[in-house]
Amino acid sequence: MSQDLSYIRTVLFRNSTFEIVECRWNSKSVSAMHSHGHSQCCVLVQEGLFKDTQVKDGQKTVSERGPNDSIVTPMNATHEIRCLSDVGRTIHVYSPPLAQKTDSPNFATPTQSSLLSDPDLSLNTESPSFESLSRALEAIRAKSISTDSPLFMNQLFSGVRPESLLSDAVLSASKTTMATLEASPVFSAIEVLVVKELGKVSGWDFESVEGLSVPGGSAANFMACARQALDASAKELGNQSKTFAVFVSNEAHYSFLKACAVLGLGTNSVVRVACNEQGEMLPDALELAIEAACEEGRTPLLVCATAGTTVLGAFDPITEISKICQAQNLWHHVDAAWGGPVLFSKTHRHLMNGIERADSMTFDAHKLLGASLSSSFFVTRHKKILLAANDVFDGGYLFHSDSDIDRGRLSWQCGRRADALSFWALIKGQGTQGLGDHVDRLMRLKDDVARWVKDQPRLTLIATPQFLNICVRVTPPKGQEAQASQWSKIVRDRLRDSNLAFVNFSTNSQGSFLRLILAHQDIELVHVQNLLLAALQES
Ligand SMILES: Cc1ncc(COP(=O)(O)O)c(C=O)c1O
Repeated sequence: MSQDLSYIRTVLFRNSTFEIVECRWNSKSVSAMHSHGHSQCCVLVQEGLFKDTQVKDGQKTVSERGPNDSIVTPMNATHEIRCLSDVGRTIHVYSPPLAQKTDSPNFATPTQSSLLSDPDLSLNTESPSFESLSRALEAIRAKSISTDSPLFMNQLFSGVRPESLLSDAVLSASKTTMATLEASPVFSAIEVLVVKELGKVSGWDFESVEGLSVPGGSAANFMACARQALDASAKELGNQSKTFAVFVSNEAHYSFLKACAVLGLGTNSVVRVACNEQGEMLPDALELAIEAACEEGRTPLLVCATAGTTVLGAFDPITEISKICQAQNLWHHVDAAWGGPVLFSKTHRHLMNGIERADSMTFDAHKLLGASLSSSFFVTRHKKILLAANDVFDGGYLFHSDSDIDRGRLSWQCGRRADALSFWALIKGQGTQGLGDHVDRLMRLKDDVARWVKDQPRLTLIATPQFLNICVRVTPPKGQEAQASQWSKIVRDRLRDSNLAFVNFSTNSQGSFLRLILAHQDIELVHVQNLLLAALQES
C-alpha cells in the first residue's frame, strides 16, 4: 500500500508466505489508488467505517464496510480505501507478502559450491533455535529464483495461486497419507471429487472415472505405460517374451523414455512418430509405425497423444488418433500435462476434441493453472483398472477397508501426499469458469504477442503459436552473424544474468530459438515486449 501519512501502517508479522499489517486511520484519511500486483489482499475492519472502491477489468465497485466486515481485493484489481469515521483500524493480510513484489526479480543461479558453504544453509548451526531457522528460511526465499514473477517464463509454470498457498498450510498441518481411508477420510473424498471433475470436463462417464494424484506429470505418464490393460498376467509374470512398443510423437515429453527404462521395457520400446511443421503427430505416420512394429514382432502397448507439447505447444489430433487406437484395440493415453486446462475453456476446449474417446489422461494443475507443485493426476475412464494394476493383495497390516476404498490399493505408492487439495482449492476459489477465464486471457495475449513479434524485423516465430509457447528466433545484429546459430542462447543468458527475464531456449535444424511460456496470472503484453526489446539490443 502506498504511504499516506494520514494513516499509520505497522507490519505485525511477515514470513515468506503471509504479511500481516495493521493500519490506524484518522477521519477522512484515504489510501492512494493502488494494486497489490500478484499478491491477494484481505482486509478485516476492526473499528470504524470505510468506503472501498475497486476497479477490475474496467468495472468499478464501491462498498461500505464496518467492524468485522472484510474487504478482499483480487489480484490485478486496483483499490482505494477511505475512512468515513473519526478513527478506524484495519488488519491487512497479503499473500504472498508485498515485500516479495516482483518489481526486481532474482534470476541469478548461484553456484552449487557457494551454496554448499553458505552459512544460511549449513546444518552445522552453533546455536540452533526456531529464530535462527526462521531467519534462514527467509534467506532461502530471498536467494531462490523468483519463479513467482511474471517474468519467469522458463518452464511450463509461473507463480503459485494464493488459494493453493492457503490450502498447502492446511495440508501440512493435517499431515496424513492417502494410503488409507481411516487416516485420510477427508482428503480421500477430495481426491475423488477432483478426479471426477476432470472426468466430467473430459466427457467421460461419471460413474466409471477413476484416478489419483501422482508426484508429477512424468509419474502420470509412467502409470500409463503399465501393462494391465493389455495383459493382466504381466503383473505377476512381467514382460515374458514380449517386446513392447509405445507410440509417441517426435515432440512428446521425454518422460516416456524414462518410464520405459524404469519399467524394464527399455527405452527402445519408445517409437517416435513424425509430426507436421506445427509439431502435431501425423495420424498416417502413426498407422505406418504400428504396422512396422507388428511386422518386427513387437507388441503395441499404448499410443500417447500430447495435448500441448513441451516446446511448440502443439495439440496432436486426438480424434484421429483414437480412431486408430480403437481399430487396433490399443490403449490411448493423452498427455495433457500442459494443455489440459483448455478443457475448462468454452472457447479453446476444441483443441482437445476426442478426449472423450481416450482411455486415460495426464493432467497437471501445477503448470498452467498455478496450483502448488506438484498437483498432477492420472485419470482413466476404466474404473477397475487402477485396482487391478496396483493392488498386490498384501499389506493386511494397513488396509482394513474394502479394497477400492483404501486409495493406497489403487496406487504404487504407500505414503502419498494429498496433492489433490491444491487443485481442489483452485476450483473452490475460482470456479471452473475462473480456470477457463485464465486460459482465455492468456490465449488472447498469445495472439497479441504473435502479432507484435511479426512486426519486429529481427524476430521470427518458429511456428504460429497454437498455444501459450512463444518460440521465436532472434537474428543477431550486424557484425555478430557468425554466432547466429547460438544467438538465442546468448541472448537468453544475458536476460537472465541481468535479472530482466528468465526464458528458455531450444534448438531445431536452423539453430537455437527462445521459448517464452505464458502462464503467470499477471503476465501482460508489456512484459513480453520489454524482454524481447531487451533481447534485440546489441550487447
Ligand atoms: C507434455 C509434458 N508432459 C509431461 C511433463 C512432465 O510433467 P512434470 O514436470 O509434472 O513431471 C511435461 C513437463 O514439462 C510436459 O511438458
